[in-house]
Amino acid sequence: MSLSHHSPSSDITLRINGTAHPLTIDNRTTLLDVLRERLGLTGTKKGCDHGQCGACTVLIDGERVNSCLMFAVAAEGREIVSIEGVAELDGGTGLHPVQRAFLDHDGLQCGYCTPGQICSAIGALDEARRGWPSHVTEDTAAGVADVTELDAQEVRERMSGNLCRCGAYNGIVEAVLEAAGAPGTDTATTSTAGGAR
Ligand code: FES
Ligand code: FES
Repeated sequence: MSLSHHSPSSDITLRINGTAHPLTIDNRTTLLDVLRERLGLTGTKKGCDHGQCGACTVLIDGERVNSCLMFAVAAEGREIVSIEGVAELDGGTGLHPVQRAFLDHDGLQCGYCTPGQICSAIGALDEARRGWPSHVTEDTAAGVADVTELDAQEVRERMSGNLCRCGAYNGIVEAVLEAAGAPGTDTATTSTAGGAR
C-alpha cells in the first residue's frame, strides 16, 4: 500500500459570533486553530491542545466544547460562540452576567484560562437549567430541579474540566454561584485542593 501525500481540503462556512466565515481548510485543522490562526479570534486559548485544560472551550449550539478536540469541518452549520461573542448572548448591552460575576469575585487572575472558564460556566449553567445531573448530584435520575440548587460542590464538579494554575478557584466558584442566582456565595470553608481542577 502506498501512502498518498495528498491533504484533502474542504470549502466550508463557519458561523461564529453571528458572522459567516467562508474558508478553505485542510480537513485535519482543529476548530481552535481556525479560530486563532485563520480568523484572529485569539481570545480562545491553546493550553494543552489535548482536551485536558479547558482553555479552548467555546459554545457550539449552546453547549461547551473543547475546540482543540474538534475538527473545524465538523462545526459547519452550527452556531459557534467564542469569548469574543458571549456578551452578545445577553443582548449585547454590556458584559454577560457571568463575565460581570467573574469581575466582581476576582474569578480571573492570569487571564489565560478565563475565556474558557467563562464559556464553560455559561454552558454549565445552561446544562443545570435543563436539569442535567452531575457526578455529585444527589439523585442523578431526577437531575437538578432548579439551577439555584447548585452549591459549591456542584460548581466545582461541573467546572472540573477547566484548569486554573494560579489559585482563582474560590473566586470562580463564587462567580458561578452568583450567576446561578444561588443563595449565598460563601465558599470559604471549601478547600481548593480536590475541587475544580
Ligand atoms: S487546549 Fe483544549 S483542552 Fe486544553
Ligand atoms: S486565572 Fe488563569 S490559570 Fe488561573
